[in-house]
Amino acid sequence: MFHTKIAGLGYYVPERIVPNSELENLMDTTDAWIQERTGIQERRYGKLHQETTTTMGARAAEIAIERAGIQKEDIDFIIFATLSPDYFFPGCGVLLQREMKITAQEMPALDVRNQCSGFIYGLSIADQFIKTGKYKNILLVGSEMQSMGLDYSTRGRNVSVIFGDGAGAVVLQPSLEENSGILSTHLHADGTYAEELAFINPGCHGGYHLGLERFGYTDQEYGGIFLTEKMWQEQDIFPNMNGQLVFKTAVTKFPEVIHEALKANDLKSSDISLLIPHQANLRISQFVQRQLGLKDEQVWNNIQRYGNTTAASVPIALTEAWEAGKVNKGDLVCLAAFGSGFTWGSALIRW
Ligand code: COA
Repeated sequence: MFHTKIAGLGYYVPERIVPNSELENLMDTTDAWIQERTGIQERRYGKLHQETTTTMGARAAEIAIERAGIQKEDIDFIIFATLSPDYFFPGCGVLLQREMKITAQEMPALDVRNQCSGFIYGLSIADQFIKTGKYKNILLVGSEMQSMGLDYSTRGRNVSVIFGDGAGAVVLQPSLEENSGILSTHLHADGTYAEELAFINPGCHGGYHLGLERFGYTDQEYGGIFLTEKMWQEQDIFPNMNGQLVFKTAVTKFPEVIHEALKANDLKSSDISLLIPHQANLRISQFVQRQLGLKDEQVWNNIQRYGNTTAASVPIALTEAWEAGKVNKGDLVCLAAFGSGFTWGSALIRW
């Protein structure tokens, strides 16, 4: 069996910086509230009509590919994680293939719909294919253009202030070096609270999960199910979040899944060189840090500058930490994420 190593990594964030003060002009919120509850000072928003989840993913991928020392045509599998795809279908994987002008290679492209843990789910999928020798250069991308689908009125403030745009990517390759690369990945899901952090409408649910009334279903024919008059009139077409439930569950599941990974490899939290938590909320990351007894320099936080970039947050943070010289040969790097679904996961990597 091969081991899976990260051969190249890159990130891209759009130029436009949106400080909290800009959101103060759009909704009833304050810089102080946002910073105190989430740690976020600013986020990036992609350029309208010019940037998308796909194009940002491609920019991050180009950097990762160059650092891996391969040509883009060498990529033999594309995995794309996002919750803000350009289209309902097809997925961003095929759009990225076209954007990067590598359609002639006809490599497979898979979209992963696991929100904040999408990158770790993607990493685990890639790991299985590399270990068995099926693929040799997997491109894994996490990218989000969330600014396109947020509610900028006061009603959406608990969600909209948190999220930002950006992309990260890695190239994964097989290695024969013992005790190096991805040591293990650990994935979990519990659909009980699926709607507590969700983007429900428009959609094909037809009211099955939450009842017909909320969506205004009465005598609709098939054509009127996807987006009803009531959804539109009440602007029930944005993400919603039960922040407190997400917070409470996250602070339990993050440490749990990290301990699971450590135990599986006979390691202790003190062995971790660097923890890259999904950048959900600075308070969540600080809580996890305390639980694991890690020092400030052992945890990478950048939510202050980018907000929560969902599937992109782990690869952006990992790349930033690597560029800052915080990830070196032999280091034990722990990735962990929790989010909508709920889904969560961790990965341990010996660099
Ligand atoms: N600005 C100002 N006030 C806001 C606000 C905003 N952006 N968002 C919500 N509020 C208000 C609420 O309306 C509420 O007002 P009320 O008391 O008058 O009803 C008050 O602040 C408290 O709301 P609540 O939702 O209980 O706040 P909270 O302390 O739980 O903080 C979050 C909200 C979203 C910051 C917090 O719950 C959180 O971070 N949860 C985890 C979110 C997360 O990580 N999501 C991503 C998962 S991957």
